[in-house]
Amino acid sequence: MIKVLFVCLGNICRSPTAHGVFQQLVDEQGVGRQIQIDSAGTHAYHVGKSPDARSQKAALARGVDLSALRARQVCPEDFDEFDYVLAMDESNLENLREICPAGQAAKLELFLKFAPQLPEQEVPDPYYGGGSGFEHVLDLVEAASKGLLEDIRQNRL
Ligand code: 4NP
Repeated sequence: MIKVLFVCLGNICRSPTAHGVFQQLVDEQGVGRQIQIDSAGTHAYHVGKSPDARSQKAALARGVDLSALRARQVCPEDFDEFDYVLAMDESNLENLREICPAGQAAKLELFLKFAPQLPEQEVPDPYYGGGSGFEHVLDLVEAASKGLLEDIRQNRL
C-alpha cells in the first residue's frame, strides 16, 4: 500500500481538493486498493470542519464530491505513516520541515513538483479571494495528480 498525504494551511480548501481529485483519478485508473489518500492542515483553525463550501461547489462541478472529508491537523507521526507528504505552498513546506522527524525529509515535497510543465510551483491559497481562485486550484491539482500517479506507477507499484 502506498500512502499519500496532502497538506495545506487549513485543510478546508486546497488539500481536500487534492484529496478528492486524486482519489477520483486513482479509482478511475483501478488502483484504489493500492493507494491510500488523506489530507491535513498545518494549523488547527478548522479541525473537524467540512471543506469550504466554495471548494466543494467547484469540485462537484467537475464531478468530485468532497462532502465526506473533515479537517484535521498534521502531526509528526504522519511522516512515519505516509510515503508522500505533499505541501501546497512554500509556507506549508516550511511548517512541515519543522515537525519532520529525522530521516523522513525525502517524503516531503511541493505537490506541484509533479507538474513540471506548469509555470506555477505553489497552489495559491484561495480562501480570501474570489471564485476563480478555486477553479485555478482545481486546474493545478488535476495536473499534478496525473503526474503523481505516473510517479507512483513508475517507482512504487
Ligand atoms: P487552505 O485554505 O489552506 O487551502 O485550506 C485556508 C483555509 C483557511 C484559512 C486560510 C487558508 N484561514 O485563515 O482560516
